[in-house]
Amino acid sequence: MAQAGQREEWGSRIGLILAAAGNAIGIGNLLRFPGQAGANGGGAFMIPYVISLIVFGLPMMWVAWTIGRIGGRYGHGSTPGMFDKMSNSRFAKYFGVLGLALPLIFVLYYTYIEAWCLGYSWFSLTGDYISEAGRNVDLRVYYDEFLGNTTTHSYFPGLSSALTFLLIALVLNVFVLYRGVARGIEMLAKIAIPLLALFCLVLIVRIFSIGDSALVKGTAMDGLAFLWTPDFSTLTSPSVWLAAAGQIFFTLSIGFGSLECYSSYVKQNEDIALTGLTTASSNEFVEIIFGSMIAIPAAALFFGAGEVQSIASSGTYSIGMVTMPEILRSFPGAQLFGTIWFLLLFFAAFTSSVGVAQPVMAFLQDELKIKRGAAAMVVGVFWLLGTIPVIYFYRYGVLDEMDFWSGTIGLVVMALIEVVLFAWVFKIGRSWEVLHQGAQIQVPRFFKPIINYVTPIALIAILVGWMGDAVSQGKLIPQPRLAWDVMNRSEYTGNFIKNSENDVTHLQRNIISNFEGSVSTAVTGANRDLTAYARIQFPGDGTVRVVSYEGDPKLAPGVTVASLQSYLNAKGFHYEVFDNGAWVSEPGEAMLAIEGLNRAPYIWLIRIIIVALIVAFSIMVHVIWKERRLSGEGGTA
Ligand code: PHE
Repeated sequence: MAQAGQREEWGSRIGLILAAAGNAIGIGNLLRFPGQAGANGGGAFMIPYVISLIVFGLPMMWVAWTIGRIGGRYGHGSTPGMFDKMSNSRFAKYFGVLGLALPLIFVLYYTYIEAWCLGYSWFSLTGDYISEAGRNVDLRVYYDEFLGNTTTHSYFPGLSSALTFLLIALVLNVFVLYRGVARGIEMLAKIAIPLLALFCLVLIVRIFSIGDSALVKGTAMDGLAFLWTPDFSTLTSPSVWLAAAGQIFFTLSIGFGSLECYSSYVKQNEDIALTGLTTASSNEFVEIIFGSMIAIPAAALFFGAGEVQSIASSGTYSIGMVTMPEILRSFPGAQLFGTIWFLLLFFAAFTSSVGVAQPVMAFLQDELKIKRGAAAMVVGVFWLLGTIPVIYFYRYGVLDEMDFWSGTIGLVVMALIEVVLFAWVFKIGRSWEVLHQGAQIQVPRFFKPIINYVTPIALIAILVGWMGDAVSQGKLIPQPRLAWDVMNRSEYTGNFIKNSENDVTHLQRNIISNFEGSVSTAVTGANRDLTAYARIQFPGDGTVRVVSYEGDPKLAPGVTVASLQSYLNAKGFHYEVFDNGAWVSEPGEAMLAIEGLNRAPYIWLIRIIIVALIVAFSIMVHVIWKERRLSGEGGTA
C-alpha cells in the first residue's frame, strides 16, 4: 500500500493478487479443512462443502470486494464505516462492529496455531520428535503435551516452549503491521506460496508411494475414499451444513472485513471482479488438491481409515499436527523436510494473520486517527494479553470455543449481514455496477439471483437450523472433559494403543459412556478439576488390570478400581512393541494420570470476552459517529 494522496493504495496489480491469495491461503487450507472434513464424516462433508463454495463462497467473495471498494471511496477500511455508507439507517454501522470484534478474537487463536507451525519447524530441525532407538515418540501425545492438553509431561515440562514460539510469532506480526502490510506481505507471498505448492507435491508423492510396510495400518487411498465417497446421510444435518459453510468462509477469508479492508485500498479502476475470482480459485486449488491429499490420506495410512474421524474429532487441528510430522519422519532427511514444511506453513499462516489484523488497524487509523505505528502497538498489546487465556486454558477447550463462535458462527452471521447489505439495502443493481467498475470480466448473470435470494435465504436456514439443534440438544452447555494418559511415556520403547472408535462394540460403548458420564457428574458436582492416579498392569494378552487407584474423594463412587478397569478394557487399551516385523502385545506396567476437567468457567469466560468486545466496539463506534455529527463532518451518505 504505497502512500498515494490521502489514502494508501496497493503498489501493483500482481502485488494485490498475491496479497489476497496469501490472505486466503493459510491454516484453513492445510490444517482446518482436513480436520473439519474428517470430523464431519469425510464424504458426508464434501457435498455441502462444494455446494457452499458455489452458493456462498464465490458470491460472497464478490460481495466482500464490492463492500470494500464502497468503503474505500469514503476513506473507510473497516466494516462500521463501510456499512454506514451503504445504508441510510444509522444502525447499519453497529452491525459492522462484528467485523472488528470477531477478527480480533480470531487472530488471538490463529496466531497460536501459526506458532505451533513455527514450533514444529524448530522441533524438526532439532529432530526432537523423530523417533530413535529406545525412544518412541507418540505424536498424538507429543502434540497434546506441547499444548498442555494432558495430565502428563513426558516430552514437554510445561508450556514454556509453546509460549516462546507464540511470542516470536507475535513480534513478527506486529512488526509487519508496524511497517505496513504491503511491503512485507507481497515479498513473502511471492516466495512462500509457490514453495508451499512445491512441497505439497513432494509430500503427496511420498504419501501415495509408500508401499506395504509393517509400520502402516492402511493405505492412502483409503483416506481418499473416505473423503470422496459421497454420503448423503447427513445432508439434513444442520451442523454439517454449518461446518461446511463455516469452512468455506474461513478458508476464503470471508466475513471478517479482512478482504474488504484489502479492497478498500484498491484503485477505483482496478478489476475487483477478476481479483475476487483469482483469490477464490487459487485458494480452492490449494484446499481441494493439497488440503485433501495430505493429512487425511496420511492419517488413513499411518493410523488406519477407521481412525481418521476420531483423530479429527479430537481437535480441529490434530489431524494436521499429528499426521504431518508422522509422514515427515518417515522421510530420509526428515529434519530438513520437516523444518522447511512447517516453516512454509508458518509463512502461509503469517500472510493470513496480518490480514486478519488489518480491519482493526484500519479502524484505529481511519476512525480514531491514530498513526500506524501507534495502532500497531495498541493491537500488539491487546494481542499479547488476549492470547494468554488461549495458551493457559487450552486444555479446557477454549481454542475450539473461539474457533466455533468467531471462525464458524460469526463468519456465517457476518456473511449474512453483508449479503443483505449488498443485495437488498444498497440494492443489487447498484452493487453490481460497483463490482464491475473497471472490470474486464463479467460475472455470470445467474449469480445475481443467487446473491439476491439463494445466498441470504440459505444462510438464514442454516443459522435457524443450527440454533434449533443446539438448543434442543443442549449443545451450548459446556461439558467436563476426561483426560488421561500414561506418565513418563518417553521411557517406553513400544506404543500404547486404544481401539479405534469403529472397533468398539455396543457393550463397550456403553461402558465407556457410563464411565465418562460419572466423571462428568462428579466434576460438575464438585465444580472444579478432579485428579486421580492409577497403577496398571498389562498381562500381555491385550487386557489391562488396575492394580491400585488413588484419587480425589469427589470422584467416588463413579471412579473405582473396577470401573476404571472396565473402562480401560472397553477402550482396548494395551501396550505393543515392534518385534520380528510385527506389533505384538507385551506385558508391562504403567502409571496413569487421570483428570476430570471442569470446563464451564473457561468456556463462559471466552463467551463473556466475545460479548464484551462487541459491546466495547459498539460504544466506540457510537462515540466516534456522534462526535463527527457534532463537528459537522459528513453525515450518512
Ligand atoms: N483464510 C485464512 C485461512 O484459510 C484465514 C482467514 C480468515 C484470514 C479470515 C483472514 C480472514 O487460513
